[in-house]
Amino acid sequence: MKKELGIIGIGNIGSMLLNKFIELNLLEQKNIYVANRSKEKLENLEKKYPSINICESNEELAKCCKNIMICVEPLNLPNVLNEIKTYLNDETYLMISTSMVVHKDISKFHKGSISIFMPTIISMVNGGITITYHNDIVKEDEKMFFEGLINSFSEVKVLGEEDINLSQNLTASFPGFFAEIMLEFVKSASKRSKNVSYDNLEHMLLVSLLGASRFLLEKNLGFEETINRVSTKGGITYEGVKVFKEKLPEVFDAALEASTGRYDAITKKASEEVDKLI
Ligand SMILES: NC(=O)c1ccc[n+]([C@@H]2O[C@H](COP(=O)([O-])OP(=O)(O)OC[C@H]3O[C@@H](n4cnc5c(N)ncnc54)[C@H](OP(=O)(O)O)[C@@H]3O)[C@@H](O)[C@H]2O)c1
Repeated sequence: MKKELGIIGIGNIGSMLLNKFIELNLLEQKNIYVANRSKEKLENLEKKYPSINICESNEELAKCCKNIMICVEPLNLPNVLNEIKTYLNDETYLMISTSMVVHKDISKFHKGSISIFMPTIISMVNGGITITYHNDIVKEDEKMFFEGLINSFSEVKVLGEEDINLSQNLTASFPGFFAEIMLEFVKSASKRSKNVSYDNLEHMLLVSLLGASRFLLEKNLGFEETINRVSTKGGITYEGVKVFKEKLPEVFDAALEASTGRYDAITKKASEEVDKLI
């Protein structure tokens, strides 16, 4: 399979992927085609990567590329698919960086290979999980192409499409959730701190978090086992753990309800947009 790729949408995710493909020598600049709605981003890209192919429109990109990665917002995706549909054929492999537009709707524009994935901004520093769904038509060499690229800086986890809404809370949405949870933790500690600054508290927490993740992964420890190891009955950690145990389930249930509900609402809206275009 030819190592050539077109990327539509050079925002947070499109630019992260593009930078990784080039920095890690996964693709040559001359084999990458890019298109984006606003032209400034493309001008800046041209300065950074002079051999990359800048396309004037999404249609121009679709004319040149068999492998097309689309990294636009879910509600902009139907229009992009509509613009390029005339240039898609049996050979085209579409990779879509959002699962909020369902496969059934994407396949109204393209009957061939489609992979839907939920990347994570964590992969900017090499890591995190990229949840992926391949339709039945995706060929082995196409899977190898996609997974080979992404696995170089993120762990690809292949799931059924129906499992993505919930699971993505633990991967793609996680950096935002984690930041909010930790923010409240540091704010609470900061209110009680006599001499240690907010920045110092934040640093201590971040280093502890990094270490805690590594500790659990490398020692193959579960959360409950870790709690038992650290929190001896009657001790200080035990008292804090008891409060978290009582209060947190309600918070997490409500957060997941809200986030999965919003996902469903966006999916429905995108589906209505598709129906207007078809
Ligand atoms: N950010 C995350 O952590 C994350 C995680 C998982 C999945 N995703 C999904 O990945 C997709 C991209 O997210 P993002 O954070 O990268 O969004 P973003 O920063 O807003 O980037 C979207 C890009 O798409 C471009 N675009 C929009 N409509 C277009 C069109 N019709 N033709 C060409 N380009 C168009 C925008 O161009 P302009 O320069 O004109 O704005 C922008 O550069 C979304 O569907 C999102 O749900 C994001």
